Order: sequence, then C-alpha cells, then structure tokens
Amino acid sequence: MTSHSEVEVPSEAELAAMSREELVELGTKLDGVELVEYGERYEPGSPADKRAERSVARWFLLAGLSSVLFTVAFIWWPQGYRGAYDPGQWKYALYTPILGVTMGLAIGGFGMGVISLAKKIVPHEVAVQERHHGMSAEVDRRTLAAEITDAGHRSGLIKRRGAIKGSLLLAGGGLGLVATVPIIGGMIKNPWAQGPESDLWVTLWRPVTLSDGSVRKVRLVQSDGTPVSPADMEAGGMITVFPGVPGGAKAADSPALLFRLRPDTPVMVRAGQENFGYGDFYAYSKVCTHVGCPASLYEQQTYRILCPCHQSQFDVTDGARPVFGPATRPLPQLPIELDADGFFVASSDFHEAVGPGFWENGKYPAWSSHPKGSPS
Ligand code: FES
Repeated sequence: MTSHSEVEVPSEAELAAMSREELVELGTKLDGVELVEYGERYEPGSPADKRAERSVARWFLLAGLSSVLFTVAFIWWPQGYRGAYDPGQWKYALYTPILGVTMGLAIGGFGMGVISLAKKIVPHEVAVQERHHGMSAEVDRRTLAAEITDAGHRSGLIKRRGAIKGSLLLAGGGLGLVATVPIIGGMIKNPWAQGPESDLWVTLWRPVTLSDGSVRKVRLVQSDGTPVSPADMEAGGMITVFPGVPGGAKAADSPALLFRLRPDTPVMVRAGQENFGYGDFYAYSKVCTHVGCPASLYEQQTYRILCPCHQSQFDVTDGARPVFGPATRPLPQLPIELDADGFFVASSDFHEAVGPGFWENGKYPAWSSHPKGSPS
C-alpha cells in the first residue's frame, strides 16, 4: 500500500466500528486527497434548499410527463398518410412532430434534471488527488463507498427529498416506457386483427375496389404521379415507380423498379411467374430482401441491381435472384400489363411478402427458373 505509507491503515475491526464521517475523512487521507471545498450546498431544510429541490423535481416531472404523453401519442394519435386536402389531415401531419417533441422533452428534461441535481443538491466538492495504478485496495473501496453514501446522506437523497425521488422515479420509468412502447404499441394496434387484408400481407399495388363494386388495377406512376407507358423508357433503362393511389409514393413497402431490357436479352423466368413481365419490361420490389434497404443502384451493362447497404446483388435477367451478398431471396416480382390507355398497371399485388426475411413464413416456394419461352 505505497500510497498509504504515511497514514496508518485501520484493522478490519476498527474499520467496521468507524462512522460514515470517519470513513470519509480516512478515505481522503488514504487517497492523498486534498479537499479544497466540501459540504452541503444549502442548509438542509432552508428555503434555498427547498427551492433547489423543487427546481430539480420540476425537470424530472417534465421528463416523466413527456414520456407518458409520448406513449399515449405513439399508441392512440391517428397516424398514416392523408392527402393535403383530406379532412382532418392536420391531425395526421402532427403525429411525427408530437412524437419528436415529447421524446425530446423526456430525454432533455431527464438530462437537465441530472445536471440540476449535480449542481444544486449533491454536496459541493473540490478535491485534488494523485492517480495510482492497478486495482484499489479493500480499504480504498470501503472508504470510497462511504464517501458515495455520505454524499447521498448530505444531499438528502437517502432519507429526505421525496419530491426528487418521486419525480426521478417517474422520469426513469417514463423513459423506460418510451424505449418499450414500440413493442407495446404493436401489441395494442394488433396488425393481425385485419386478417388477410392486414398491412402485413398487402401493399398498395393490390387492385382497388371502387364504390360501384368494379375493380381497378393500380397504375405504375413516377414520384410526381406521371403514369408510365412503354414509350417512356429506353432499352436498358430503369425507373422507380410507385402505386398510382393516394399515398402511393409514401408507403414504405410499395416502391418498385421497372426495367426495360435490351431486345433479345436472354431471360430466365421464375416457375409460375412466366407472365409477370410485359415484353422486355419487368418490375421488381425495390425493398431489399436482406434487411429492407432500398436496392436502388443499377448496373445497366450486367443487369445487376445493387443494394448499397450490404452490397447484395440481384440479377434482373433471372427473376431478380440474389447472386452476391447477404440477401437470400429474390426481390418479389410485380406482375404488370398495360391498361386500355396504354399505361402500365399492376395485374395484382406482389405474390410474396416484400422485404426482409422476417416475413418468410411459408409463402416462399423453392426457387426455380427456366429460359423465357421454354416449357418449365
Ligand atoms: Fe440490402 Fe443488406 S439491406 S444488402
């Protein structure tokens, strides 16, 4: 115990008999600490002390209440896409800002509460100490524990300060709630309750049933709503398309890539999906089957789609089968045809669930493809 050479180290029995204050004093001496300043910020119970306590509690209260508001908004505030002129659109537009503001206040309030606690309640201490190497001796650890406990006693956090303890509990519990509400919310807003029409199973490419009972197939449109016809694309080209319905460009599972291959390109078609393309045109989901990034890069010469997240590559000439990288499933193919006006429409929704492997729940048959035009 070289650092303690000039201080007599008490025996185990003497240590056990020492008061908290004596242990604190011993600890500073043993550590070679020079206490320049040490003590309570305010006289316990004085008006200044109570003011400090209320000020800290207010921050934790703000954090706790904001966490509860975040949770309530996350679960019950109306959410989803609404057009700019739809009635009640403002409510939907407020969803994200409300989540951002309440979560910001919860985290910020908690942080301010901790800072305020350290500045106004925890005993003020200015100490100078030499650093040492290696693990601390038992006596050092005991005295350090006493110092921490002493700070708790002197700041009143152990026996008094119900307001701070209560609000801190509310803030800590609230922040825990904020962290878990995505799971809790998912259970309350049960997506399975809608059965086969659940958002889990359908995308906006599904044909729309109109009020007169007729069914309209959904057009492939660009981000500005322009429908796409075969004459709009050069051979070898690719564009991103969205369902031509309200909110189509906002739905995360709906973007697709429309390709026009060069004439006479040898193409393999997937068994059972021989008629999904239209001439040299093929459409695939843009959502990578690895973990859902947009597979947005295209190498025109090799007909490879590249996902920039983890470099999965998909072969457009073979049903968007993965040929490199971590993705294990092909990009789902969107069946396409032309409508009466000569624009592309989706013949039906995707036949497979879009996106990452979580949804591989029996919907995916084993892969097989064969040259286009040949019997399967
Ligand atoms: Fe596309 Fe990982 S998300 S490769």
